[in-house]
Amino acid sequence: MSDKPVLFMACPLFAQAHALLSAHFTLRHTTENTLAGTLASLSAMADVEALLVTLAMPLDSQAIVRLPRSVKAICTYSVGTNHLDLAAAKKRGIKVLYTPNVLSESCADAALLLMLGASRRALEGLRLLKGGEWSGWAPDQLLGKDVWNQRLGIFGMGRIGQAIARRARGFDMEIHYHNRLRLPPAAEQKAIYHDSLAALAAHSDYFCIACPPTPETLGLVDAALLARLPEGAVVVNISRGDIVNDNALIAALNDGHVAAAGLDVYAGEPEIHPAYRQMDNVFGLPHLGSATLATRLRMAALLRDGLSSILAGKAAANVAN
Ligand code: DGY
Repeated sequence: MSDKPVLFMACPLFAQAHALLSAHFTLRHTTENTLAGTLASLSAMADVEALLVTLAMPLDSQAIVRLPRSVKAICTYSVGTNHLDLAAAKKRGIKVLYTPNVLSESCADAALLLMLGASRRALEGLRLLKGGEWSGWAPDQLLGKDVWNQRLGIFGMGRIGQAIARRARGFDMEIHYHNRLRLPPAAEQKAIYHDSLAALAAHSDYFCIACPPTPETLGLVDAALLARLPEGAVVVNISRGDIVNDNALIAALNDGHVAAAGLDVYAGEPEIHPAYRQMDNVFGLPHLGSATLATRLRMAALLRDGLSSILAGKAAANVAN
């Protein structure tokens, strides 16, 4: 019998991440990777001290009240916590651990990939090449939009937004941003602050959504906001799908007001709006923002360290509630 605390993996990770966690915890797995399966398995266990979930397993207040009393922490393998009822967890005395900071650079890399892929029509280029339909270089083939020297509007200038800005400066972009709070000058690094999202949109040849998903940001990128973008702007979303009104974005993409979109996230994912699948001007990835091996291992290590501290009665920096 091990004396390591039991961590229940409601969403199994992968071998290297498990190795990292199992040095500190006894890992227990579910046979059925669903919420119902997790809750049923947990109800038969009285020794589970923590639960690990991903953003693919939302835990609302009803699920949280059903967790065994022994559970002291929920670890989410994500920086976003919008799939968890933080207040309900707090009420039960359960700490929610998440993975801030360690994935910012990888997500910023992905945002640049989306921006470049969308503006330079990478999807259409790949189709041409892989479909064996490329008949050779042509002067007007798949003409896209420049990225260099354009204005990049960043909605949400947290760590991911700032990492995107750092990269975009290398492309000689002029950086504009809107954030709940204005950054201090040193962090701002000459980026131009707008005190409203509408003002930011009006200055964004590229409009990049990097804000945290909260009830306040839900649906903010709607038809009225998209109409404020300059003609032919490109929209990038690295945050959460439901910040964008899909029908409004699709209409703007269809009428050309928005030239292209680079999307990593979708409302209701893994389902996506069927129009996105059809549109050549949507360069989409299946929520891969943090998907590098090194980052995913850093995320596991951060949860391991935070959980070890919490279970030892100490503070942890990555507690979300
Ligand atoms: C997260 O971890 O919340 C992000 O969506 C990573 O892409």
